[in-house]
Order: sequence, then C-alpha cells, then structure tokens
Amino acid sequence: MSNYAIVLAAGKGTRMKTKLPKCAFPILRKPMIEYIVESIERSSIDETVTIVGHGREVIEDLLVDRVKYSLQARQLGTGHAAMQAREHLEGKEGTTLILLGDMPLIDDATIDDIIQAHKDLNNDLTVVSASFEYPTGYGRILRDDFGAIERIVEEANATQEQRKIREINTGIYAIDNALLFDMLDKIEKNPYKGEYYLTDIVEVMNKTHKVGTHTLRDNQKMMGVNDLYAVSQAEKILRDDINKFHMLEGVSMINPETITIAHNVKIEPNVTIYPNTTITGDSRIEEAAVIGPNSEIHNGIIKQGVHVRHSLIHDSSVSERTTIGPFAHLRNGTNIGRDNRIGNFVEVKKSSTGDNTKASHLAYIGDSTTGKNVNFGSGSVTVNYDGVNKHETHIGDDVFIGCNTNLIAPITIGDNVFIAAGSTVTNNVPSGAMAIARNRQINKEDYAQNLIKPKPKTYQEK
Ligand code: UD1
Ligand code: CA
Repeated sequence: MSNYAIVLAAGKGTRMKTKLPKCAFPILRKPMIEYIVESIERSSIDETVTIVGHGREVIEDLLVDRVKYSLQARQLGTGHAAMQAREHLEGKEGTTLILLGDMPLIDDATIDDIIQAHKDLNNDLTVVSASFEYPTGYGRILRDDFGAIERIVEEANATQEQRKIREINTGIYAIDNALLFDMLDKIEKNPYKGEYYLTDIVEVMNKTHKVGTHTLRDNQKMMGVNDLYAVSQAEKILRDDINKFHMLEGVSMINPETITIAHNVKIEPNVTIYPNTTITGDSRIEEAAVIGPNSEIHNGIIKQGVHVRHSLIHDSSVSERTTIGPFAHLRNGTNIGRDNRIGNFVEVKKSSTGDNTKASHLAYIGDSTTGKNVNFGSGSVTVNYDGVNKHETHIGDDVFIGCNTNLIAPITIGDNVFIAAGSTVTNNVPSGAMAIARNRQINKEDYAQNLIKPKPKTYQEK
C-alpha cells in the first residue's frame, strides 16, 4: 500500500510581514518548502500533493514537477486546505501524512518513523505531538483521565490552565487515506475565526474511530516558522546541526557559531574554515582547502589545497592550490586554474584562467579567457564595456601584462607577449610581440628647479 503526503502551503504568512509567501521564505538561503519536499523525497512517501494559494506561482516555480498541486483559492484554514487534495487522492488506499509547509527542519527519518508508528499502533488517525518548554503559539493536546487524546485546542481559544500544557500539536497527522476526505467534510467552521481547523479532525474521529498520538523526541525539529524571529531560530538550529556534522566528518571550524554552511554543501575532510564564513548553494569544498575568515561562497567549487581569505566567490570554480584574496571577488561563471594567485582587490567576472596565472593586486578581468603563466600587473583592466555592449578579451599563454594596462575589448593577445606598463592596447597583439601603447617620456634637463618651491624660512633665518 502506498504512502501519500499533503503539504499545506497556501497561507500568506501574515506574521512574517514579508512579501514572499511564507513557505518560499529562505532558511540558510534555501526556501522552506524545498527542505520539506526533499525530506519527503528521501522518505517512504510515494506521492505528494502540495496545497497552494497565496503566491502559488512562487511555490510552483520552486518545486516544478516534484509534487502535484491543488489550489486553495481562498485560505479558509488548515482543514479546508487539506480538503483540496481530494482531486488527487480520493479513493486511493494507503496512509496519508499531512504536513505543514512551515516546518523546514523535519527530516526523512522522522517522516518514516511517524508512518511506522501509525501502522504499528493500528490507528485510524495519529496526531504527532511534541513536548515544548515554551509552547507559546502552538495548539495544545488535551487528554482525558486515561491519557487518551480528547482534542486539540488552539492557543487563541485556550484557557489559562490549558495554556500551561507543554504537549503541543506539531501539525503533522497520519491518517488512513480511505477515511480522510469523509472526515474532513465533517469539520465545522470554527466560530471564533470562521476557518476550518484541521485540528478539529480529532474530535470528529474520536467518536467513531481509533485516534492516537505519537510523541516525537527530537522536539526542536518540529518547530513551525511563523515570523522572522522563528526564521533565525530555525537557522541557528540547522546551522549547529550542519556544522556538527561536518566537524565530525573531519572539517575543522574555528569559532563555528559564526560559520554558516547551507544544507547541501559538500565539504571534504581536512578542510579548515575560519570565522565569519558563509558557504551556500550548490557548493563543494575539496580536501585541504582553507576558507575564511570573512568569506562568502555561493555555488562555488573549491578544489584541493585552495586558500580563500576575505573574499567573495559566486557561481565560480577555483582549481588546485590557487590562493584567492584577501579581498577578491569571483563571479558569474568564472573558472580559475591551478596554482593561480588572485589577490588584493581583484575582480574576475565570467572569465577563465589557465594554470599558474597571477593577478595579485587591483585588477578587473571580465568576459575573458586567459592562458597559463600570465601575469596581470597591478591595475590591469580588461575594458569589456563600451557603454552599450560587453566585449571579450582573449589572452594566450606566457603573457606579461604591465601595470596599469587597459586591454580594450574585443581584443586578442597571442602567446609570449609582453605589454609595457601603462599601455592602453586597442589592437590585437600577435604572439611573440612586445606592445607599448603610451606617450614617449621627455626629460627636460635642469628644469625641475623651476618647479620646486623654496623651503619656508625658520624664525632664526629671518
Ligand atoms: C498550526 C496548527 C497548530 C499547530 C501549529 C504547528 C491549526 C488550526 N493549527 O497553527 O495546532 O500547533 O500549526 O506549527 O491547524 N495553510 C494553508 N491554508 C490555510 C491556512 C494555512 O495552506 O487556509 C498552511 C500555511 O501555509 C502553513 C500551514 O498551513 O504552512 C500552517 O498554518 P499556520 O497559519 O502557520 O498555522 P499555525 O497557526 O502555526
Ligand atoms: Ca505555523
């Protein structure tokens, strides 16, 4: 028999006070809903329906065809949201897990554990609860004298006494799919808010079916994210967890509280990461690399033995043993070769370099390809933009580019070229040539004294 998931993600997230629909809001630069769907994909769930409404295009753009969608045109509550999955799931046999789109920390093991517990307990409905030290904001589990679940009360409707209960509703439910839609139909509008509360399914089913609870131990991971403070808490929990994982895998982190590594980043053992470093997106850091302090890598491939200090690397790769920084910026599909030195205040955009190339200080390299053993002197610039269009620069092997050189693109520089410092090079330079493109120097003998002002006299000299 199959397992199904319904993910409720149609709400606006009013408490977030942000423009993005809540479930698309990023946690460590990745949208919340993607975490949930990833965990579902790794679990024993066979088919997933996501309920969309507010900002549906944003959610659908993120998940594309990884899930099926049902539209909740008006957000009339969590119970009403779950009903919308009827078009995909009605009449199917199996177990359905209902999850909220605002619980990014749930993992696949927990999902499988819940489904297993539901089957082992032989329940028709299993409510997943957790025990929170600070239960504020969550629905509370009300139990009868025998300890059986009676119903769930939302905090807004709870008495002072009920608010003291620490056992909360995580918002996850496992239910026999054959019963699901009939039971949802029986939920009545909540008199306070005019919404259909999914939580009321407990009372609906308690009379006629077997309702139980499953309490999760890893409590923090069950948090619901409702506002930006909760975003920061979720990020902290995730950050600690991810950093711990990497440290136990042999990654050395100095002051790890200041280091942020996103969910899917791969880091090999024997890497060292210094403080204030953020590595996100589809990044991979290979063995013996040293990253940080104060560096940001997003979608970066960093090969063995590379050093990155005080630098920014976006959508770019750096090959073996190269040093980046301090204060370098690689972006937009840049590929740096082996044993390069990309140093102080150097920006490289959409460019590649061969092995052993150096741009140690104050250079801009854009829309270009560079061979091996090239030296960019301090202040060299590939002049790629004419105010309207971008143009390319191609540089061969073994080229020396003197300080303060402008290469006006489009331009091609051959192999074994020497360009004199201060040149503004507008024409291609053939292999083996030396190019010099600047005014010839004139020395006017004995002329300096006309320009040097006499020193001011001291008081005694007057
Ligand atoms: C809900 C539960 C609460 C539980 C908590 C756990 C209800 C009534 N309350 O409260 O018992 O302790 O989660 O985190 O279920 N959504 C829709 N359509 C709607 C309304 C909501 O799709 O009409 C989606 C939202 O996008 C969100 C999820 O359902 O992802 C939960 O909604 P939210 O408003 O955050 O519920 P809570 O107040 O946190
Ligand atoms: Ca919530």
